[in-house]
Amino acid sequence: MSTNPGNPTTATSPAATTTSFAQPAGPTVTGAPGFPRLRPRRRRVSAAVRRLMAETHLQRSELILPVFVREGIDAPIDIAAMPGQQQHTIDSLCRLVEEAVKAGIGGVNVFGIPEHLDATGSQADAPDGITQRALRALAPRFGDAIVLQADLCLDEYTDHGHCGVLTADGAVDNDATLERYVAIAQSQAEAGAQMVCPSGMMDGQVAAIRDGLDAAGFTDVLIMAYSAKYASAFFGPFREAVRSQLRGDRRAYQMDPANQREGLLEAKLDIEEGADVVLVKPAGSYLDVLAKVVEASPVPVWAYQVSGEYAMVEAAAANGWVDRQRIIDETLTGIKRAGAEAILTYWAIEVAQRLDRQ
Ligand code: PBG
Repeated sequence: MSTNPGNPTTATSPAATTTSFAQPAGPTVTGAPGFPRLRPRRRRVSAAVRRLMAETHLQRSELILPVFVREGIDAPIDIAAMPGQQQHTIDSLCRLVEEAVKAGIGGVNVFGIPEHLDATGSQADAPDGITQRALRALAPRFGDAIVLQADLCLDEYTDHGHCGVLTADGAVDNDATLERYVAIAQSQAEAGAQMVCPSGMMDGQVAAIRDGLDAAGFTDVLIMAYSAKYASAFFGPFREAVRSQLRGDRRAYQMDPANQREGLLEAKLDIEEGADVVLVKPAGSYLDVLAKVVEASPVPVWAYQVSGEYAMVEAAAANGWVDRQRIIDETLTGIKRAGAEAILTYWAIEVAQRLDRQ
């Protein structure tokens, strides 16, 4: 067999065989194909160039503010573990949401904190419960300008602090909890919620809630499912925010932080059950899960930058250890870059106001 003298040239053409990118190969130095013709730093030379080259842009409409409304108080109360955040009266909540509308953010996510707690969380679906009264005050004033979301869970309403009702031996009873969720969804929709957000990680919750909403005529009320929600220490400050009574933990229903594939399964099930939006939570430590869900999901994927993510930055910034504004922007940009189409963040208004001026 004779060798063709032309062959070695084609066989050793590195640009064609080692990369699928189309940049021209220039003079090379060892280990740097194309150098010095190819200088990625050209795209970073000035603020104007960098601005034009940015792949990721935060938008005001993609930010959602979680808010707390508490029964039985006559003035807002600061949440110590979340500096800058408060438990609101219905009046102060209305002022906050007015500010949110002015800032141009996409939604507010309401958490109610009732005075009366019991084993079944009866205030969660009470027609005059704090969440229902807050929604009723907000819906006519702001419902056209911003999406009113309601957290749909039992932990803020139960005396044991779990996200569902309990069996005699103290385990969370999945199927009995679903009946409670349906009643809560219907009463939140009745009060003016445009989107209900089940966050309890019960199996089958999205299907049960969809059927319940449809049966009651709320076919246009959306479901945002906290699909991949992890049993996370990042929820720590939130427990103060809602005066949680929880002893123990939620590891028998929220996900193990070790698991990525399972997050994809949870999102898939929720989509099959009719979720309009799926969400990954917390955000910053779960960007791999977020990116994978984004890749696979036919519906929008959101992320929740939770209380602990907020509190850590505020605490470090208060000590002068980090540049607060840059860290906030970097965390949100990272979440957006991983693919989140909207982000729940306690900085929503502040960031939106800043974006407005850019
Ligand atoms: C459950 C719920 C929690 C959060 C949102 N919904 C707490 C939990 O699951 O323990 C946490 C939000 C945050 O930490 O900012 N209703």
